[in-house]
Amino acid sequence: MKAIVVKDQAAGTAGMTLADCPEPTAAINDVIVEVHAAGWVSTELEWPSTWTDRAGRDRAPSIPGHELAGVVSALGYGTTGLSVGQRVFGLADWHRNGSLAESVAIEARNVAPLPGDVDFTVGASLPISGLTAWQGLFQHGRLQAGQSILAHGAAGAVGAMVTQLAREAGAYVIGTGRAADREKALDFGAHEFVDLERDALEDVGAVDLVFDVIGGDIQKRSAAMIKAGGSLVTIVGPAEARPADGLAVDFVVEADRAQLSEIARRVQDGRLRTNIGTTTTLNDAVAAFTTTDRSKGKTVIRVRP
Ligand SMILES: NC(=O)c1ccc[n+]([C@@H]2O[C@H](COP(=O)([O-])OP(=O)(O)OC[C@H]3O[C@@H](n4cnc5c(N)ncnc54)[C@H](OP(=O)(O)O)[C@@H]3O)[C@@H](O)[C@H]2O)c1
Repeated sequence: MKAIVVKDQAAGTAGMTLADCPEPTAAINDVIVEVHAAGWVSTELEWPSTWTDRAGRDRAPSIPGHELAGVVSALGYGTTGLSVGQRVFGLADWHRNGSLAESVAIEARNVAPLPGDVDFTVGASLPISGLTAWQGLFQHGRLQAGQSILAHGAAGAVGAMVTQLAREAGAYVIGTGRAADREKALDFGAHEFVDLERDALEDVGAVDLVFDVIGGDIQKRSAAMIKAGGSLVTIVGPAEARPADGLAVDFVVEADRAQLSEIARRVQDGRLRTNIGTTTTLNDAVAAFTTTDRSKGKTVIRVRP
């Protein structure tokens, strides 16, 4: 099968090549998915899991890409709940070969059915940003209706999901980003917007929850704005800053079938819009990943036409 392969961490995206690779085989409780579309996060080649297995052993050459939408083509021993021919989407294991490939082996529990009216490109754009937003808001941040949230990077892939889900949950959403992000963040449902390069962040006052996708100084200043008992959740950990009297959580998103289904349902009924910036093909993906243009949302690779 065709797949994008990386061998040399130091080479970055310039070291990615399209290669002929062996077909994946299904382990216990796996499904093999014929990938129709895959999602890409630009920091993947910096993640240790792209280069090592769970025991810390070198696993290069490896196939990156962890988000996928496609059709189940085979079941591993013991797999229940899914059938051959079923449309699915999900989040592949960080330490295994991923979805920038014509097929992927993935644990069945890491995928959910993809409704027939949600296309594969949209399906592949949802798992990381949708699940990260969901888990950060509702599991780690315990967001409640009526609370206020500072949603950093609100026009980005994760931030757009955070903004929409927090608004739907009845929170008051203050989105942040650069000047060019204002309209998009408001369009995704932010009540107000802070241009981090020009406005004074502290002017928005105290908030119940900070959802950090930026880190560094912005994380530190945001932590100081959290109300007593409020929380900071960060996905660009470690959480160096802590609220004076509250909780700081840094976390890595996990696959969750029930949450994927909640996200798909919202996309289906129009409550949630995905934020796709670039769409490319497997043949053109490496060129798309190495561009220096500013990303405008999620990058999705159409693996099958
Ligand atoms: N731990 C986890 O489970 C997890 C899950 C998903 C993502 N992540 C990480 O979270 C980060 C965000 O991911 P993403 O996919 O949402 O990325 P993205 O689509 O690039 O969104 C980030 C947004 O924040 C903006 N931004 C970043 N720094 C800024 C600054 N100093 N001032 C103003 N705006 C700023 C970006 O604008 P510019 O493009 O102009 O910088 C962009 O609009 C990445 O580092 C990713 O690796 C972690």
